[in-house]
This record gives sequence, C-alpha cells and structure tokens, in this order.
Amino acid sequence: MVHLSVNINKIATIRNARGGNTPNVVGAAIKCQCYGADGITVHPREDQRHITDQDVYDIKDEITTEYNIEGYPSKRFINMILNIKPDQVTLVPDTVEVITSNSGWDTIKHTSFLKEIVSEFQSNKIRTSIFVNPDVKMIQAVEKTGTDRIELYTGSYASDFSKNKEKAIRPYVISAEVAKEMNIGINAGHDLNLDNLEFFCKNIKFLNEVSIGHALISDSLYFGLENTIQMYKRLI
Ligand code: PXP
Repeated sequence: MVHLSVNINKIATIRNARGGNTPNVVGAAIKCQCYGADGITVHPREDQRHITDQDVYDIKDEITTEYNIEGYPSKRFINMILNIKPDQVTLVPDTVEVITSNSGWDTIKHTSFLKEIVSEFQSNKIRTSIFVNPDVKMIQAVEKTGTDRIELYTGSYASDFSKNKEKAIRPYVISAEVAKEMNIGINAGHDLNLDNLEFFCKNIKFLNEVSIGHALISDSLYFGLENTIQMYKRLI
C-alpha cells in the first residue's frame, strides 16, 4: 500500500501571513493524522518562511504516524534532525532562493557529501531518502550513498501529464525499476494532485510513499481537510 504523507508547509504559510497562531500548525498535523494521513511532512527552510524550526520541534511529540522532515543538509538542519530523530529525513538540494524544490540532487557530483550525511543519520536509526530527478544515471549513482530510499521529483510528470500521460510517466517507470533492482525504496512528490495521482500510483510499482502539500491543502479549502485526505487516499 502506498502511504500518503501530508506536507503541512502551506498551513504555516497562512499562519505566517498574520503573525499569530491561526491556523495552528501543530493542530493541523494532529487533524491530518486523525483524518487518515499516514505521515506528516515538513520542510523547514533556512529563512524560516513557512515551517519554523520551532514548529518542527513542537510537532514531533504529536506525530503518531510517520514524521518526515525534508531539507537541505546544512549544519543547522543536520543538528535539528539529530535532536528530533524523525522516522525519515529527505535530503533536498534547495538553495535559499528557490520558491519550492524544483530539481533533485546531482548524485554523481555529490556522492561523497550525501554518503557522509546518510551514514550519520542511519547510525542514529533515521531512515534516509534522497530527492532525485527521474534520470537513470542519477538513480544509479544513489546506490553509492547507501540511502534507504529515493524521492522521485514529480514536477515534470505533473507538467507533462495533461499533454501525454503515457510519455510523462515513462522515465518514472524506468527509474523505479532501477531503484528496485538496487533494493532502494521509492517515495515521490511535487505537484501531485487529484488529477494525476491515481495514474502515477497505478504505474509505479513498489511505490512506498507520496508526499503532497500544495494541491492537497488548496483542495481542502473547497472540500474540507477530512474529505480531501480521504479523496487522495482513495486514489492511492
Ligand atoms: N517533496 C519535496 C522534496 C518538496 O520540497 C515538496 C514541496 O515542499 C513536496 C514534495 C511536496 O510538493 P507539493 O507541495 O507540490 O505537493
């Protein structure tokens, strides 16, 4: 079964617009779990523009499902992960200026950097995942890092889906097969939504988890959070 991890960054974005505590980010994490989310994802950025480090700590004790923390492995991020010890850490190559993650790691160039970080997290019993484009060379190079999983960046799938979904999914099918051969688990995320999720899940064998934020939180404005989470779960 594919797990749905709900990324709650957008809840923090709305809260931060007024500077108070509405909507309550910890409360939203609890509700998402009650409504059927299999995990909660947060992506604290260096500039703290949505989820803050304090949120990441506050949420920890409320997570009864799977806690996934994404981010660029800066010193600050690594220390926070080692203090919190979430179930999973997803390493993304984002620099401060990007609006949202828009590409995976160059795993050939950064093999030794990633290997060192993966090994430190794994020795603390934290599952690691490396954000990567659906590019066979990049997936093959992931093996040397020793990571438990990859997270396939689904931005190009989502943007090509309406034009030709068979073509859009092809690199992901191949990438997933390569990862499976190396015994590496497969997560996926970015721009997945109610239109493109089902086709993705049907075609990607051995998919462990999808993490979805922007579309899911937006849909919940119309359908309500509980309904929306159930709608997404039905598709996977
Ligand atoms: N995976 C990663 C690494 C991300 O950075 C994000 C966005 O924070 C997501 C998944 C979720 O993408 P979306 O918000 O488009 O669902």
